Amino acid sequence: MKTSKIILTLSFLCAILFASAQDQAALQMEAETIAQKAICVLHGTSGNDISGIITFTTSSSGVLVEADVYGLTPGKHGFHIHEFGDCSAADGSSAGGHFNPEHMKHGGPQNVVRHEGDLGNLEADQTGRARMSNLDPAISLSGPHTIIGYSVVIHAQEDDLISQPTGNAGARVACGVIGIAK
Ligand code: CU
Ligand code: ZN
Repeated sequence: MKTSKIILTLSFLCAILFASAQDQAALQMEAETIAQKAICVLHGTSGNDISGIITFTTSSSGVLVEADVYGLTPGKHGFHIHEFGDCSAADGSSAGGHFNPEHMKHGGPQNVVRHEGDLGNLEADQTGRARMSNLDPAISLSGPHTIIGYSVVIHAQEDDLISQPTGNAGARVACGVIGIAK
């Protein structure tokens, strides 16, 4: 009598555990499939009147990165995903270094050897507006290397795509956190 009660209780517990494991797997899948699009709203760091939006859209051959930024000085500006989604510091330093989960060397978006966060440069026109559209095969909105929750930083100078570890792009003039978009 006692043994059958124990077996009954155990099988009941097993059923609960199994069900919750299934729920968790389903939730995880849902979280992974939700992020077809992400957005980053940029704000200028201290003393920089910069604004802009970067969108990231998943496609079969990579992530389409589209940028529209205002208030830059004319010319090229280093443009990266950084390792922390923290733009709280006045100079943007809280965003940390380049997003580099594979521990690679710094490069450009067209290089095989690059940080995942190396998006290259934005080029602003005479009015300070920079628009860009690039399909990036190295970044992802899901999985272990998702860029969601990290930050985008724009720099005062051009990224030379060679100098280690950051392309010698100078001060951080704008920062924004990457979040899931509809
Ligand atoms: Cu940077
Ligand atoms: Zn880099």
